[in-house]
Amino acid sequence: MADPRVVRHPLVDVRMSTLRDVGTDRPSFRAAVRELTAMVVYEAMREAETAPLEIRTPVATTTGAVLANPPVLVPVLRAGLGMAEAAHAQVPGAIMGFVGVARDEETLQPTPYMESLPGSLAGIPVFVLDPMLATGGSMAYTIDLLKARGADDVAAVCLLAAPEGVDHLAATHPDVPVYTAALDERLNEHGYIVPGLGDAGDRQFGAM
Ligand code: PRP
Ligand code: URA
Repeated sequence: MADPRVVRHPLVDVRMSTLRDVGTDRPSFRAAVRELTAMVVYEAMREAETAPLEIRTPVATTTGAVLANPPVLVPVLRAGLGMAEAAHAQVPGAIMGFVGVARDEETLQPTPYMESLPGSLAGIPVFVLDPMLATGGSMAYTIDLLKARGADDVAAVCLLAAPEGVDHLAATHPDVPVYTAALDERLNEHGYIVPGLGDAGDRQFGAM
């Protein structure tokens, strides 16, 4: 399997348990999504370039830092919407685009229904936010859209990934790193991640 960047931390494990637990109510599930998103984005930003900035403290002048090239954040609707605010809080200056993709539960193919993205993404880091990387079809489709707009520095920011999705992304977009809070065992016959957490969109927003 390709090598996803799994964020290893006890606080991640605790919140992931909240997501997995079938008894977690919707507000608690959304809160855990936000908290985990902050942690995974934090890791995904580890190599981000900064530029020096002269600042005055109450005591002296010193050199601070600003992000040299903040990422564009692209939540994949619906489930990625729950990650948007927490990611934006980490990078408040970021531009945000949106892509709507629903997986056809029979064929497991991505079905796009909405797209609102900056015209050109060349030279700008882009973080795709989607809590679930299952077959990888929705993520690969979204990255196709981004690359069609010139994106050349894309990262997938997930909360839970399956090996099948990681491999699919490595095959279709080998230049795209996957950041995730956890990596599970496999997909089941319905394309759900095992042991997983169920349907991330339904658990945040209700079943459609
Ligand atoms: C979920 C999830 C991903 C997709 C992952 O969305 O948020 O977008 O499935 O599956 P894949 O890797 O096999 O493509 P879903 O299609 O259920 O839509 P929703 O966000 O509206 O609930
Ligand atoms: N989408 C989800 O929300 N959950 C899965 O397990 C797989 C795809």
